[in-house]
Amino acid sequence: MLAVIKDTKLAVISLLDGQVVAIPTETVYGLAADANNIPAIKQIFHIKQRPIDHPLIVHVYDLAMARQYIKSIPDYAVRLIEQFWPGPLTLVLPKSDRVSDLITAGQSTVAIRAPAHPVTRSLLQQLDRAVVAPSANKYGHISTTSPEHIQDEFSDGEFDYILDGGTTPVGIESTIIDASHADYFSILRPGSLTEQELVQVAGVPCINKQDNTIRVSGAKDSHYAPNNPVLIIESNKINNVITEQNLDNILLICYAQNKNNYLSQDLSQKNYTSASELASNLYSWLREGEKYKYIIIEQPPQTIDYLAVWDRINRASFKYRDMVKS
Ligand code: TXA
Ligand code: MG
Repeated sequence: MLAVIKDTKLAVISLLDGQVVAIPTETVYGLAADANNIPAIKQIFHIKQRPIDHPLIVHVYDLAMARQYIKSIPDYAVRLIEQFWPGPLTLVLPKSDRVSDLITAGQSTVAIRAPAHPVTRSLLQQLDRAVVAPSANKYGHISTTSPEHIQDEFSDGEFDYILDGGTTPVGIESTIIDASHADYFSILRPGSLTEQELVQVAGVPCINKQDNTIRVSGAKDSHYAPNNPVLIIESNKINNVITEQNLDNILLICYAQNKNNYLSQDLSQKNYTSASELASNLYSWLREGEKYKYIIIEQPPQTIDYLAVWDRINRASFKYRDMVKS
């Protein structure tokens, strides 16, 4: 099994030595490499089995460090950074010459964020340079929110260390915005920070349009996906699907208040009472759900606070959406 370590100094030495290290962030775990070390960055793509046309996020300690990796930044983006960094906000900005094409998949912009997890903040401070870090999972599979998930996901020898930061609190990836325009921004990937919160601080509008030239791997239709079917089903139809015969084959994820609406007590269930509680447990529950034949997710509320969760579960269930059309 991959070694779980608590010593940030060892992680720093390993990164400076050109090794890949799994690191905790407040959102999900990342697979980190020195942002200035090309062979180490190539190793990340290899370990993740990620196509090289999918760019990586540069993780920095603060805005001062970020400025080394960007060419320019609009005033509203500085306001957003001052309000939300360190935290789950990634900004896509024009890149400086220091950023390799390997990181950006040849684009002229770079995605950048300062993670809030204290362990990784200490790591970045000691390193005094940026790391690139995609989520620590095989390409297309469920992201990881604990060291145990990473041990399940990767084999011995793929890399050496997982830096222990416990369970990551937010549970889903950062909100990514395109901040390369002077007077508006766009959301490329929804996250726990909502459009309203961002617009309020930015003081410029959020204009979301489909831009097929921007490469966002999470924007692939199927992503964050378990190896077994995930079905999103309306509350009033769930009892049509679950029978005494298939009870043992199902993990149901549903709103806590509704838990008694569904067949017997023998049904395995995971319950939540808010969007943030669902987000913080979602990947862990999907991983546990891989032990069952099916994962059924009761349709969550269609409210703004559930937007990022909807984005993830729609992709997790994408391959199986035809199974629930009837
Ligand atoms: O919360 C997070 O953001 C986590 C933690 C580890 O920080 N990281 C993460 O990385 O989710 P990853 O690689 O799984 O997703 C990063 C996304 C990808 O979809 C990638 O295409 C997009 O960011 N991205 C990176 N650079 C970009 C750029 N220049 N323009 C547009 N999208 C970009
Ligand atoms: Mg990812």
